[in-house]
Amino acid sequence: MTTGAGLVLEDVSMIFRSGGQEFTALSPLDLEVPAGRFISLIGPSGCGKSTIFNIVAGLQAPTSGRVTLDGEDITGMIGQVGYMLQKDLLLPWRTVLDNVSLGMEIRGIPLKQARERALPLLHRYGLGGFEYNYPSSLSGGMRQRAALLRTLLVDTDLILLDEPFGALDAQTKSQMQEWLLQLFGDFGRTVIFVTHDVEEAVFLSDDIYVMASRPGRVIDKMPVDLPRPRDRSLVTTPRFVAMKKYCLDLLHTHGQPVEEQQAA
Ligand SMILES: Nc1ncnc2c1ncn2[C@@H]1O[C@H](COP(=O)(O)OP(=O)(O)O)[C@@H](O)[C@H]1O
Ligand SMILES: [Mg+2]
Repeated sequence: MTTGAGLVLEDVSMIFRSGGQEFTALSPLDLEVPAGRFISLIGPSGCGKSTIFNIVAGLQAPTSGRVTLDGEDITGMIGQVGYMLQKDLLLPWRTVLDNVSLGMEIRGIPLKQARERALPLLHRYGLGGFEYNYPSSLSGGMRQRAALLRTLLVDTDLILLDEPFGALDAQTKSQMQEWLLQLFGDFGRTVIFVTHDVEEAVFLSDDIYVMASRPGRVIDKMPVDLPRPRDRSLVTTPRFVAMKKYCLDLLHTHGQPVEEQQAA
């Protein structure tokens, strides 16, 4: 199962131990993300979404299992994937251009060259005219654009996006989703996207993994067989509405901790 292109998680689990207590953040999990696809993880707070990302990014060692990328074991290895954290973490003392160039610079590309690569993309993806602004003068949507472009420009095949639009107002969020779809189409990267917004997951994804908490686990995988390119008119179609309802019902059913369900 580990030979194909893309990301494979086999039997990955995470148990945190402290003060003699054990806490299962992630029950053993199998997950497959074929190259070039857009996958979402949805589920309530605390179900282990960020833990999965930390494991894939090599920031945390799983208690069991392994992670392979294009057939190569990358368990515990950092620098193999692009990772945009929940907070955008733009450096306040760097201009937008230099923030977007940062990922490349960290990888050893001289700043001047990194800027040359970044500049046309800022124009193309909605940051034209703001190249020399500082992050504090940008709107929330623009900050997220900058953070996302910085992640994309690092040139890894796989990008992890942890609730990038979670803090945005509804209208900005919807603009950002369309912007991300354009970017996904243009760059052809593999994306894993974390959200707890079901409509967002259906709108963006090829596959959705639905998760539950206590213990964190995957309860279902739903393929989203909607054509691309997609636009907003899709969200009112019967097929879209049915998929959204399917996910919402699953989340609702599994929404409580297992022990509370048993007690009820
Ligand atoms: N380093 C850690 N030590 C102990 N518990 C942790 C640690 N990191 C995360 N957890 C716990 O693991 C669970 C999953 O966390 P997380 O992956 O951040 O959830 P999500 O991103 O889905 O909200 C949560 O209950 C969280 O409190
Ligand atoms: Mg999280």
